[in-house]
This record gives sequence, structure tokens and C-alpha cells, in this order.
Amino acid sequence: MTGPGVTSILSELLHVRQLHVGPGAALLFLFAACLVYNAGLVVYRLYFSPQARFPGSKLAAASGWYEFYYDYWLDGQYIFEIERMHAKYGPIIRVNPEELSIHDPDFYAELYVAESTRRTNAYDIFCKGIDFDGSHLLTTDHDLHRRRRKPLEPFFSRMGVARLQPMLAEVALHLETRIRDLKGTHTVIRLDHAFSAFSGDIIGRICLNSTDETGGRFLDDPDFAPEWYNVIHAIVRSIPLFTGFPWLVRVVGLIPERVLLWAYPRGQMFNIFKDRAKRHIRRAMKSTTREKKTEIPGNEHERAEDDDDDENASSLFHHIVNSDMPESERSEERLAKEAQVLLGGGTASTARTIGFASFYILTRPTIRSRLEAELRQPMASWPAQVPTWAELDKLPFLQAIVKESLRLSYGVMHRLPRVSPDVPIQYRDYTIPPGIPVGMSAYLMHSDPAVFPSPGEFIPERWIGDKLGSSMAAMNKSYVPFCRGSRNCLGMNLAMAEMSLILAVLFRPNGPEFELFETDETDIKQAHDFLIPLPKITTKGVRALIR
Ligand code: HEM
Repeated sequence: MTGPGVTSILSELLHVRQLHVGPGAALLFLFAACLVYNAGLVVYRLYFSPQARFPGSKLAAASGWYEFYYDYWLDGQYIFEIERMHAKYGPIIRVNPEELSIHDPDFYAELYVAESTRRTNAYDIFCKGIDFDGSHLLTTDHDLHRRRRKPLEPFFSRMGVARLQPMLAEVALHLETRIRDLKGTHTVIRLDHAFSAFSGDIIGRICLNSTDETGGRFLDDPDFAPEWYNVIHAIVRSIPLFTGFPWLVRVVGLIPERVLLWAYPRGQMFNIFKDRAKRHIRRAMKSTTREKKTEIPGNEHERAEDDDDDENASSLFHHIVNSDMPESERSEERLAKEAQVLLGGGTASTARTIGFASFYILTRPTIRSRLEAELRQPMASWPAQVPTWAELDKLPFLQAIVKESLRLSYGVMHRLPRVSPDVPIQYRDYTIPPGIPVGMSAYLMHSDPAVFPSPGEFIPERWIGDKLGSSMAAMNKSYVPFCRGSRNCLGMNLAMAEMSLILAVLFRPNGPEFELFETDETDIKQAHDFLIPLPKITTKGVRALIR
């Protein structure tokens, strides 16, 4: 032996050399110690932990590997196992050693509460691996979450979104023009890429008013920036692995880009995404520093040098960088995480829902003609006259299509665990002690046949009609694509405005002409839960032919 190996170091550590025990025996000892520790842990989890008295599968309660197997090995299947476990064990179950899941529409509003009712912490283990730590989304503590979220809220309120109307119209017209320009070329395009480019350009312009320094928008790209779609989807697909092993994402961050590209092409996407977010923040910081300099007499000429950055003055990041948050909260590193959440959250679900709605509009002539009839008058003077979101919000069939698309695309399909840090939560006869994560899933809420007859069917008409009375109230109670309470979706109003406008533009009478190409329901319907639902892994996407 030329030097101390791992086993001999272990021997030293365990002081077994003095006892004349060899490295093999040391390893055996270590193995036995692990076994005893894990056996003890399982016994504790099953019989003595605060969660032990809740019903559910013993396997799920004993170890996190049960969930990992379903979500990593079987590609996002645990939600369906949770559905089966609820059917077997009842409305409240244990889904892993730490967490509980509840399936009961009556309880949703009790769990996802406003600040005035109860403080709500996040369960940070849940998403640690996606490297958004420091963003308000993954801020565990209720009060810090409120402080971090508050400066963002004015941009996404109803009034904030109404101010964005001209920009939304510009981006919608950009997409329409791109499709129209392809007329006569017999081209097949990826609609899902086009919709990601659309929502990505919108959130990009909100975060930082001007274009990326590469000079372009996603919608300018001839193929609708597939790499942007791929970045988001690579992250989403990696969630089961990275949440199982949160340290992995940090290791990936340390690997030089060239090595990463060779060894793990999907991992490189994380770095691309982080770089993009950091660039956004740096530019906002740069323009802020420059502004401060120009306030000093004699420095006026610097303003003229960099007029481009003036566009950023009303952007979200510019506002945050300038806000009165403590310096520590405004570090480049933290704000870049905030940017990652906004860019990712602002792109994926919105694009997916637009694709979902488009599929049914393009495949169901009755839906298409009814929608066209409704849009004829409000869209008659587009683009010279842009209908406001308030006007589009009043179109019952358009809104029914959006609502039904959100119901069946779920927003976030996964359970969303919440922790009450101070007081117990009472669910029927069960008292859930403070500190225990409890989640509910929009997928389970939206699939209840007692509330939504034929729950798997796309039936926008279910949302229309004054006579529905109590059944409409039950549907609204169970409809939670944006979650509820103090940690609900920040971008809800923006998403509704974006989706209403682009569907009105694309499917109005005399809108751009395109038809689906080799796309069926399996290309849009959920088959996997990677936090957001994804269709079958082998999908070639939502494709359209432009003749
Ligand atoms: C159809 C579109 C969308 C759906 C269905 C959706 C759904 C959701 C849901 C269910 C949550 C709660 C997640 C959790 O508790 O962990 C959430 C959070 C969030 N969403 Fe959205 N979202 C959409 C669009 C957007 C857009 C356009 C933005 C852009 C700003 C956005 C930004 C966020 C942010 C920042 C959070 C974290 C809020 C917090 O923790 O306080 N979302 N979204």
C-alpha cells in the first residue's frame, strides 16, 4: 500500500487500529452502524414521530425512496400513486416521512389561507434542488416571504397589468405577424415553442424593458427560440432528481461549462438560465448606478452615452434594485434567483395553457365557430384598436375556454406543501401539529367527478349558464389553478390577460391561418407530474402547418 486509503482512514477515525481490527472489519462496522441507524429511523418514523398517527402506506411513511422511485424512476408518477393511496386510506394520508396530503375540496380554503388568518411557511425541502433559494417563492419564513414579495406585487395587480396592455398587444401582434409571414410556405412550426417565446418575451420585457443584449426577442428567432423552451423543460424534467439530491445542483454549478456540456447536456441548461437571469439583474444595477452618477452635477454626459438603458427605468428589476429593501436583500445573487423564478414561472404554465386551449379550438369546429362569433365585434378593429383585458374578461365563451384549459392543465399539478409555524391545523378529527408540511393538489381538486362530471373531458360549456347555481359554486370552490392564500400565484392577473388576448388574436374571424399537424390529445394531456404536468415523454410537441 503506497498511501492511506479510505478504509485505513476510516480505521483511524474509528480508533480500531489499536484494537487490531483491519479495514475490512471497519467497513463492516460502518455498514452495521448505518443499518442500525436506518432501522432506528424507520421505527421512529412509523411509531413515534408526530406524523405516525396519520393513515397511509407504511412504505411511503418509512422512507423518501418510495416517492423518489415513482417520481424519478417512473418519471413523475407519484401524484397518481397519491391518488390511489387517498382512495385506499382516506382524505388525509402521509405521503413520505415528513409530509401529509389532504384530498377534500372543503378544506382547500382552510389550508391555503391569507395572512390575516394565519402565518404560512413554505416547506423548503420540497423545491430546494431547483436552486431558486433566496427567491420569495422558496423563502421559508412567512414574514420574510411577505417582505420579499411585496415590492413585486404592484407590477402584477389588476391595475399593474392594465398598464401593460400596449406591450401585451405589441407582443401578440408580433406572434400573429410571424405566423402570417409564413403563409404560402407550407411550413410546420412548433406552436408550443411559439407560445413559450410569446410568454417569455412578455415576462422578459416586464423584468427588463429593453431587449436582451444579444439584441433579439424570442419571437424574432426563426424557430421561435426552441432553446428557451428547452431550458425551461430541462429544468422541469430534472426536478425529481434535484429535489431528491439537492446538493447535485450546486455541484452542477461548479463544473466548467465545457465539461458539463460533454457529460450532462441537460445540466448545462441550468447555467444558461442562471446566466440569463444574472445578466438581467446586472443591467438593471448598471443603469441604476449610472442614474445615481448623473444626479451628481457635471456627470450629465454619461446619460447620453447609454441611452439604451433608459428603457429600463420602469422595469421591474430596475424598481427592485432601487427599492428601499435592505442592501442584503438586493444582492445580485439573490435578485438573480428572483429573476429565475419570474422568468421561469412567467413562461411555462402560461405557454402550456395557451397550447392546451389552442389544441381544442383547432380540433373542435363547434368550439372554433362559437368563439369566432363571440370575438367578431370586440376584435373588429384589431390591431388599430386593442380590446382591454376588462373587455375580454367579459366574453363568456372565451373565458370558459381559458378556465377549462386551466382546469385540465392544472397549473402546478404537484401537491403544494404549506407549514403552519405557530398554531395547529385542525382537519376533521385530526390535529396537525405546527411545523408539519401539508399539501393539496390541483390535479385532485380538478378531477373530482362529483364536482366536474366527466372530469377528463374538455367541456368549456360547463362554465356557462346562470341556472347552474350550486354546481357552479362547487366548481368555483374546487377550481385552484393559481393556488390560494398568501403564497398564491403572483402572476395570475398577467397570465389571464396574456391568455385572453392571444387566443382572441389568433382565433378571431380572419385571424392568421394554421392547422394542427400530426398532433393529438396525447401531445397535450398530462402523463407526468414534474411539478407542472407534462404530456407523454415521446411527444413531438404541439405542431401546426401553415399552408
Ligand atoms: C397559466 C399560468 C400560471 C399558472 C397556472 C400559475 C400557477 C401558479 C401556482 C399554482 C403557484 C403556487 C406555487 C407554489 O405554491 O409553490 C404559482 C406561484 C407563482 N407564480 Fe404562477 N402561474 C402562472 C403564471 C405565472 C406568471 C405569468 C407569472 C409571472 C410573474 C407567475 C409567477 C409566479 C410566482 C412569482 C409565484 C410564487 C409566488 C409566491 O411564492 O409568493 N406565474 N403560480
